Amino acid sequence: MATEKAWGGRFTEDLDEVASKFLVSVEVDKHLGAVDVRGSIAHAEMLCAIGVLTVEERDAITAGLGQIGQELERGAFVFDPAREDVHMNVEATLTERIGTAGARLHTGRSRNDQVATDLRLWARDACERVASLVDALALALAQRAAEQVDVLMPAYTHLQRAQPSRLSHHLLAYVEMLDRDCGRLIDCRARLNESPLGSGAVAGTTFALDRERTAKSLGFERPMRNSIDATGDRDFLAELLAALAIAQTHLSRLAEELVLWSTQEFGFVEMADAHTTGSSMMPQKKNPDVAEVVRGKTGRVVGDLVALLVTLKGLPLGYNRDLQEDKPPVFDAVTQVSMCLEVLERVVLAMRFNAERMRRALDAGFVNATEVADYLVDKGVAFREAHAVSGRLVARAIEAKCDLPSLPLSVYREEHPAFDEGIYPVLEPERAVERRDLVGAPAKARVAAAAHDAIARISARKKTT
Ligand code: ARG
Repeated sequence: MATEKAWGGRFTEDLDEVASKFLVSVEVDKHLGAVDVRGSIAHAEMLCAIGVLTVEERDAITAGLGQIGQELERGAFVFDPAREDVHMNVEATLTERIGTAGARLHTGRSRNDQVATDLRLWARDACERVASLVDALALALAQRAAEQVDVLMPAYTHLQRAQPSRLSHHLLAYVEMLDRDCGRLIDCRARLNESPLGSGAVAGTTFALDRERTAKSLGFERPMRNSIDATGDRDFLAELLAALAIAQTHLSRLAEELVLWSTQEFGFVEMADAHTTGSSMMPQKKNPDVAEVVRGKTGRVVGDLVALLVTLKGLPLGYNRDLQEDKPPVFDAVTQVSMCLEVLERVVLAMRFNAERMRRALDAGFVNATEVADYLVDKGVAFREAHAVSGRLVARAIEAKCDLPSLPLSVYREEHPAFDEGIYPVLEPERAVERRDLVGAPAKARVAAAAHDAIARISARKKTT
């Protein structure tokens, strides 16, 4: 691969072939093409406004860049690996086409502030795109919750049946997690929305660049305050990756439950045929591959975060070429998380719940043992004592190989004299769930309202973004 002596007079030798191949980044950073063009147009317009470029030069540059932008969009722009990265490809092609004006574009700019600007523009869009995919999945879950509000099931702790609850309450727990995931992306977008442009390589430039102007024309809140920081840090990408890694971890938990719930052992859901696969050997199999791959990708997305943090760790200020390694993890995580969100939304909308199996899970496992204790507390017994009595009754039911409602009143009364016939209705799951009527709890009206609020909240966000 022949490399131009792009660095000018200082160099007498071409870059070694192996070294050149090693340093090329265009295969990865070409995805910044569109934002690179946007940044360069803003820079050129500002250079003209401060008198560094003539109007003719500016017009030639913006027209040339506009054309390159269109070619990038169509996939028609030809990248030359000999030109190392996306920035040099765009600039060199522009100069080839329009001559000297193109060669003036880089006045007062370095690839260091250029790439930092491109990355912020790219990450800003990515935050918006992923946030709206998060919302789409959350909306699907909230809609399923609203529609399934009558279905009861146990709530679990330690994966043991714990207390009577309802399916919608479980689904809405994921909606809450996704709500925070979306919030993290929105926060990240707000914090990164500052302009590095005009910071030069590290210490600004001698030209009187109008940084306010370029910041404004690119939709940034303000120019970054410190040129060393602006060119040398990538914490905004670490923040984006952290938000993505957390979101992906939530997706992984949801995926894990779908895998678990679609086992014959649980039988709580059946995923659509369209989202499952068969086995090449065992004809009876219906495998939850989509959910498994979502779970599987989590290692990769968390790895992307770790990769960037380790790249940043130990870098002296300001820009170091190590930073070129920031892009693969960021592009990868955004792509992978987006795909997972998109496919899970479809899975969630299409899967069928087995209400009967969920309800039956409430009849075994002594899910109503807390109700027994609470019943005694209502009769004036101290909770610790009531808890012990209930535990003894569970032990007696296990011994008698029956459930709590099947124990005769005499057994209850042997354990505590406060029991009367009133204990039996308390044990019914329907009633036990309804009595959990407080903020954040699964009584029907609470959950129906929570589903309704979630749908309204997400829909409102959709309108403003
Ligand atoms: N491709 C480089 C990157 O992604 C652009 C900045 C190069 N700057 C430099 N001084 N070599 O970081």
